[in-house]
Amino acid sequence: MEALDKPGALRLVTLFSGVVKGMAFYPESHPAIRQPLLELDRMIGMALTTTDQLSWGVIDGVLFLDEYLFVTPSTAIADLVNRMMEKEIGRIIVSAGLSFDELRGFVALLASRPATFDLLKARMQQERISHITLVRQGEESFQAEDHDEIEVEAEGDYVATYGRALDAIRGLCRDIERGRIPNSAPVIRVVDRMVSITMQEPSTLLGLTMIKDYDNYTFNHCVNVGVLAMALGATLGLDSQDVKSLGIAGQLHDIGKTMIPKDILNKPGKLSSDEFDEMKRHSELGSKIIREMEGLGPEIAQVVLGHHLHFNRNGYPEWARRLPFSQMVDIIAIADTYDAITTLRVYQHPVNPRAALTEMQKLAGTLLDARLVSRFVEMMGKYPVGTLVRLDTNEVAVVYRPNPMDEDAPIVRVLIDVDGSRLTAPREQSLVANDGERYSSIVAVVDPMLKNIDVGKLIASGHY
Ligand SMILES: [Fe+2]
Ligand SMILES: [Fe+2]
Repeated sequence: MEALDKPGALRLVTLFSGVVKGMAFYPESHPAIRQPLLELDRMIGMALTTTDQLSWGVIDGVLFLDEYLFVTPSTAIADLVNRMMEKEIGRIIVSAGLSFDELRGFVALLASRPATFDLLKARMQQERISHITLVRQGEESFQAEDHDEIEVEAEGDYVATYGRALDAIRGLCRDIERGRIPNSAPVIRVVDRMVSITMQEPSTLLGLTMIKDYDNYTFNHCVNVGVLAMALGATLGLDSQDVKSLGIAGQLHDIGKTMIPKDILNKPGKLSSDEFDEMKRHSELGSKIIREMEGLGPEIAQVVLGHHLHFNRNGYPEWARRLPFSQMVDIIAIADTYDAITTLRVYQHPVNPRAALTEMQKLAGTLLDARLVSRFVEMMGKYPVGTLVRLDTNEVAVVYRPNPMDEDAPIVRVLIDVDGSRLTAPREQSLVANDGERYSSIVAVVDPMLKNIDVGKLIASGHY
């Protein structure tokens, strides 16, 4: 049996369009909203007794609901089409279990004019609207019903955000090299995006910090430090303004290196004491540039100035040791140390994430703030993001996201199948299924060198 006939489908989209439009003008308790909203809720509820999903959207400017197309829409529906196109919504999927409050909340969000697609999605998550899913325009073919595909697209967005962050730092360093005062706007824009993702779930972007580019070490390092510092800040419960400052300070912490001679910067092996003195100037130089940039508060320059002072304040620059610094300096130092230890350098083997955390624990109380180290270790979990693991199914996977509910069961990307063959596109797998059953357990940590796997390259390839 069809969930809805065509008149029913038309009635549903008309009601939906009406309440969204109405809520932009009236409070939701107004009868002009309340009545149609109740009717809409009833209709959707009825339809969802015969099917578990119902969806409507816009394709090539035409509104559809399930298999029905509304080629010549009434003005009431035209309003919905315009609104969805404006917000880049391709499809709205409602699923069984939808509550009246979720529906009402969603309509209210859709009614607020300036909300963009990303903001809408973020707000929906905040308001726990879990039975409505949005698909961005152009992100699925007409027939595509496959939810895995939608997930992959969302991950693709994160990789694109990471790419934009790299571009912003690259552009900024180019300006410095040319003697210009760089424009802060691109960095601020991309950090804003990362903040909204991180505030919802601090660990979302951590997987991206596995992306290391050995030829352009500084750019990737800067973006990674920003991502790690934001995640730690959000985990500590800082507000979005502070998390934003951490993101900006992290992404800019080493820009002073742009002014250090390249032969010192890229020298393999140990620096002479003169060379090291020269290298040490990068904190001061960076903070001086930031002070000249528009749109960045003095706290950013201060954090950059102090990022090598160490927790015991025995670091450099020596003259700044007694200045007051916020906790942000110590958060950036944690992120900086972790990314440096886990990165393969000309003169240094990469250390696997778990061993890196052990290294950091040795520095707790002297170079690093012990309390922050333990919060960071907690955040990264027993199997930190980027760890290659063997499962009891004999699959080999990389840890992509920690699971705060169960540290033995992170979300992984399976790279090598049960029969030992490499998968062309890595498969996302939660080690705990929805029903609480174990998909499989981690039996060992695997050395990526042995398996010849470049985890970062896989992440950056957009397979994710
Ligand atoms: Fe530095
Ligand atoms: Fe650094």
